[in-house]
Amino acid sequence: MQVAIDGPAGAGKSTVAKLVAKQLGAKYIDTGAMYRAVGWLVSTNHVDVKDEEQVLRLAESLRFSFTDSGIQVNGFQLTNEIRTEQISAFASAIAKIGGVREVLVEKQRQLAGLESVVMDGRDVGTHVLPNANIKIFLTASVEKRVERRFKELKRKGEQPSLETLKQEIMDRDHNDKNRQFAPLCKAEDAILLDTTELTMDQVVDQILQLCRTKLGGE
Ligand code: DC
Repeated sequence: MQVAIDGPAGAGKSTVAKLVAKQLGAKYIDTGAMYRAVGWLVSTNHVDVKDEEQVLRLAESLRFSFTDSGIQVNGFQLTNEIRTEQISAFASAIAKIGGVREVLVEKQRQLAGLESVVMDGRDVGTHVLPNANIKIFLTASVEKRVERRFKELKRKGEQPSLETLKQEIMDRDHNDKNRQFAPLCKAEDAILLDTTELTMDQVVDQILQLCRTKLGGE
């Protein structure tokens, strides 16, 4: 079984996808974490992000796996280090490189071939898993997405600025929607779910209901 959940930064994809996967007994695959992991390695190895050949070689060399604690790269667990604003910006830049996308998409398809998955990202329904059983496109207003990110950072003990966060989210939206390869957009057969006025539990319930209806009817 394959469930694809796409949408812009801050729509609640990862929280929702994780809970849906747990309920369905499927593996949660966070494709954004793969772009972030490449970004983190580019940064720690002092690779020039504009040197596409070198970034590509690095991406090719990596082995990704997912556990309940998140992403592992070559068996090494990555957590908070890939969640900084700096690595978000790196990941967004790397995601524009066509060759890197091809390599990561291939690795994502391999992971989805091993077991049932709930996979979230930007191009899962449109490109990575075009035959997914269920496709969801999650959105929320920019203001709501900024508010959620603000609270999340506060919980981590950071002191974010609302203005800066809004600008970062808008910049990332712009990058993700306007890149040449597999830009962020809703698949024709995806169900649009606006989470602005919903709690995460309500969103999860709606998706599980859709899964039951869809899979029960197949
Ligand atoms: O979902 P996220 O914020 O962790 O994603 C990090 C970056 O990776 C984001 O700017 C968009 C990019 N990305 C992508 O281009 N395609 C995906 N399937 C997942 C993420």
